[in-house]
Amino acid sequence: MATVYAVGVGPGDPELLTRKAERIIRSADVILAPVSNPSETSVALETIREFIDERRQEIIIHEFPMTSDRERLVPAWQEAAALMAAHVEAGQTVVFITIGDPLFYSTFIYLLRILREQWPQLSIDIIPGISSINAAAAQAALPLVEGDERIVVIPATAGIERIIEGLTHYETVVLLKVKPLYSEIIELLRAAGRENSTVFIERVGSSRQKVMTDFYEIAAHSPDYLSLMIIK
Ligand SMILES: C[S@@+](CC[C@H](N)C(=O)[O-])C[C@H]1O[C@@H](n2cnc3c(N)ncnc32)[C@H](O)[C@@H]1O
Repeated sequence: MATVYAVGVGPGDPELLTRKAERIIRSADVILAPVSNPSETSVALETIREFIDERRQEIIIHEFPMTSDRERLVPAWQEAAALMAAHVEAGQTVVFITIGDPLFYSTFIYLLRILREQWPQLSIDIIPGISSINAAAAQAALPLVEGDERIVVIPATAGIERIIEGLTHYETVVLLKVKPLYSEIIELLRAAGRENSTVFIERVGSSRQKVMTDFYEIAAHSPDYLSLMIIK
């Protein structure tokens, strides 16, 4: 039987795909690309555009709404999993592409659970990708951790209390999904005296990449969804 692949396409730079990811994408029959809003382009799809051949490969754009409302999310996951299973059962190779890594805060995690539960006979292969964190640290030339240091990754949507806890207990804090709580995070970092140890990175790996270390500039910025902060 053909295989379902989940391929991490990295942060947005086509040169940051692994050779295996590129080979699997080129040989796929069907590529399923996630979007959070039908009016937006898929960042994952744009990243791999040069590796696909639309005359030979079927591209399916699937909407996964950006919400925590499970009544909207579960049907979107279920529909995507069923679509992938149907193509694979018809003998086609299906690739779900995802930014960064597929097992790191990715929609693919939910699809994996559904596929394992409802289509346990399917073969699933997961190809890791370079996460936004590693790409961001590289662009900022900022060592993430060394020696006995510890690092914590917090989606800022988990709440300010979790961020305070992270700043108190870990040498390095990485904040993902900073956009919704941006002004609260800025206030917290100011109050905690972390102005000089914060780096902000947006759209790493793309032509719209921004790396900021000046706290006044960071505070005045209006961030994109694809942005993160590293606080040492
Ligand atoms: C749902 S998580 C996806 C993480 C992804 N699977 C990874 O491995 O990087 C989305 C968050 O990752 C971060 N992110 C993803 N791509 C990024 C990029 N190109 N530049 C900066 N941050 C990015 C942002 O914090 C964004 O809100």
